[in-house]
Amino acid sequence: MLEIKNLCVSIEDKQILKGMNLKINDGEVHALMGPNGSGKSTLSYVLSGKEGYEIVSGSIHYNGRDLLNLDVDERANEGIFLAFQYPMEIPGVQTSFFLKTAINAKRKYQGLDEIDALEFAKLIKSKAGDLDISPEMLKRDLNVNYSGGEKKKQEILQMSLLDPSMAILDETDSGLDIDALRIVSEGVNKLRTPNNAFLVITHYQRLLNYIKPDFVHIIADGKIVKSGDFSLALELEEKGYDEISKSA
Ligand SMILES: Nc1ncnc2c1ncn2[C@@H]1O[C@H](COP(=O)(O)OP(=O)(O)OP(=O)(O)O)[C@@H](O)[C@H]1O
Ligand SMILES: [Mg+2]
Repeated sequence: MLEIKNLCVSIEDKQILKGMNLKINDGEVHALMGPNGSGKSTLSYVLSGKEGYEIVSGSIHYNGRDLLNLDVDERANEGIFLAFQYPMEIPGVQTSFFLKTAINAKRKYQGLDEIDALEFAKLIKSKAGDLDISPEMLKRDLNVNYSGGEKKKQEILQMSLLDPSMAILDETDSGLDIDALRIVSEGVNKLRTPNNAFLVITHYQRLLNYIKPDFVHIIADGKIVKSGDFSLALELEEKGYDEISKSA
């Protein structure tokens, strides 16, 4: 699915990623954990194609293609999805309109007609219902005055409608209450298939009790310093980043 090799990335001449290596196969869930400022969101932006990052060296292959040659829209259409750590507010754009536009953009790329209004209404009602998002929320402007947790849920709704191949969740759990965490995790688990993969960025082992990762990686200062299974998240909770980074 995704293979990152020796990736070095700078922003404004400051090197942030310093030799990232990561291989994610179809059907796998990988958790990425690491201290504030270690480069987790930078990696997620680079994968999604956000501009402004200088790829100093290294490569990213996605389903055998050079991902770095695809622009941001192509990446989305090819099934890469990023749930933002800080979802953007878009005044003047109704949430349901935004979601419909996103679905239709993907359908157009696939050579399909726009989604039928009734079909869309049914689909969004069911998916929003699963996430406990009310129809009133969908009539409001995208993320505007949504609470922190509501914004995160909206990202997951968008993800479930787009059904991505490679989903990156950047701290989707932070700001969620206990019930919302469970609901969002169930939403993610429902989407899991042998043909897609997830990269779940989190600070908390708690999320990983719900979304069971196949692998856990620890990133420090722009590169992965340790990888393991779920037990690594437990070890981290106990020992903290400092001790684990040093022992690695
Ligand atoms: N546009 C930018 N200009 C300068 N420095 C930046 C820019 N974007 C990110 N950085 C720096 O890059 C480093 C990595 O940031 P990043 O957001 O990737 O960290 P993170 O691991 O996601 O942290 P957190 O856990 O706090 O979300 C930080 O030191 C940050 O200040
Ligand atoms: Mg971050």
